[in-house]
Amino acid sequence: MKTINMRRSIRKYSSREVGDPLLKTLLRDSERTQTMGNLQLYSVVITRDAGKKAELAPAHFHQPMVGEAPVVLTFCADFRRTSLWAENRKATPGYGNILSFLNAATDTLLYCQTFCNLAEEEGLGLCFLGTTVYMPKEIIRVLRLPKLVFPVATITLGWPDELPELSDRLPLEAIVHEETYEDYTPDRIDRFYQPKEALPENKHFVEINRKETLAQVFTDIRYTRKDNEAMSEGLLEALRQQGFL
Ligand SMILES: Cc1cc2nc3c(=O)[nH]c(=O)nc-3n(C[C@H](O)[C@H](O)[C@H](O)COP(=O)(O)O)c2cc1C
Repeated sequence: MKTINMRRSIRKYSSREVGDPLLKTLLRDSERTQTMGNLQLYSVVITRDAGKKAELAPAHFHQPMVGEAPVVLTFCADFRRTSLWAENRKATPGYGNILSFLNAATDTLLYCQTFCNLAEEEGLGLCFLGTTVYMPKEIIRVLRLPKLVFPVATITLGWPDELPELSDRLPLEAIVHEETYEDYTPDRIDRFYQPKEALPENKHFVEINRKETLAQVFTDIRYTRKDNEAMSEGLLEALRQQGFL
């Protein structure tokens, strides 16, 4: 079976080190990914030091992988290097705006995902931490990110010490639209989401959270409007601070 069909997030790692030569090879090979204007609008900060991981942990809601993984990688949208290059070459950069942030964030996520694919091909295990954009100001402080550099993704990386069950996915027809967008009728929603709702682990999830539906677990507990709005404020402040707004 192809590696991609067996991939799952890995949150427990063995004590085996991830050697620097392997890490650098993977980071170098990932540079082959597509990038806007061939500018490579990203940087990555490698964290191996236990003290630094402990400093990063609060920004990731103390998820244990941050302290336990041998390597934590923070992938940053970076228009700084390109801007400094321009300024040093009699060119005037104009990248302190939201479009430039989106372009740099796109480059960064593509680079990050290429790294993930290559790392998993090597047998490494990893977990993507979306918390990176929840409290970016903390990460910016700890990693000393200057203006026009913004953390968009974190990966905890190590050799797997677990083999979790594969998680479910929606059927292809739920995500693919032929020629134009076909909106979702209640019938189609039922068809696409009922298998997920029927999974024992999801039923259990609903039960222990004392909710009526699985969707309520997401809207009322895991990703609430209140949290999303509060963290959006923090995100906007951080974008202003870093010069993208
Ligand atoms: C944007 C994004 C944010 C995520 N954030 C977290 C996180 O903060 N903590 C975590 O344990 N997993 C996180 N994950 C991993 C997902 O939980 C995981 O990919 C999903 O449940 C599917 O499981 P699988 O990767 O094992 O197939 C994140 C994944 C993505 C793409």
